Amino acid sequence: MTALPIAVHGVAVRGAVLADVPALETLMAPYVATGDLLPRSNYDLCRHIKEYAVAAAPGGEIVGCGSLKIYSRGLAEVAGLAVHPQWQGAGVGRALLETLTAEARAQGLHEVLALTRKPAFFLKLGFVPAEREQFPLKVWADCARCPRQNCCDEVAVVLRL
Ligand SMILES: CC(C)(COP(=O)(O)OP(=O)(O)OC[C@H]1O[C@@H](n2cnc3c(N)ncnc32)[C@H](O)[C@@H]1OP(=O)(O)O)[C@@H](O)C(=O)NCCC(=O)NCCS
Repeated sequence: MTALPIAVHGVAVRGAVLADVPALETLMAPYVATGDLLPRSNYDLCRHIKEYAVAAAPGGEIVGCGSLKIYSRGLAEVAGLAVHPQWQGAGVGRALLETLTAEARAQGLHEVLALTRKPAFFLKLGFVPAEREQFPLKVWADCARCPRQNCCDEVAVVLRL
């Protein structure tokens, strides 16, 4: 993450570091259980930690996270976006998404997609509905490890930069 940090309600968004991995696992676990997020192994989080931004409360507690997965010079995906239930509705999700899209702009990407069961959140923040089929096959590699692969209810949304 090279984009500038964005602060909201005393919560600071910054690039994730390896020391954040246990907190990321704890934060995402309930949303993995509900199927809102895909499971990520400890190895996967460590391997890709530089793709993640975290939102840290004034005491240092990690209250939100999200990642930017780059597929090509033009296309990236926002994934693993989660805000602790007690911090939802306070603008933390927006701050994380704006940090990730600022990073995408800084990298010279043309569009950012998200596959989500919460499209209304993304539409509110400037994304538009998209056809899943317009994205390259490697985007769907994650589907192979998704428990919902045969009954998928995620929709694609995209932000053109
Ligand atoms: C979706 C999620 C990340 C939103 O985070 P948040 O911090 O609560 O969102 P914010 O407070 O920044 O909201 C920004 C705007 O989006 C709106 N919004 C938030 N969640 C929304 C939802 N589910 N549906 C519609 N609008 C939503 C807010 O009302 C706000 O609009 P406003 O500025 O006009 O008031 C959070 O609810 C979450 O972690 N959900 C569970 C995990 C998940 O589903 N992640 C998405 C998977 S891709």
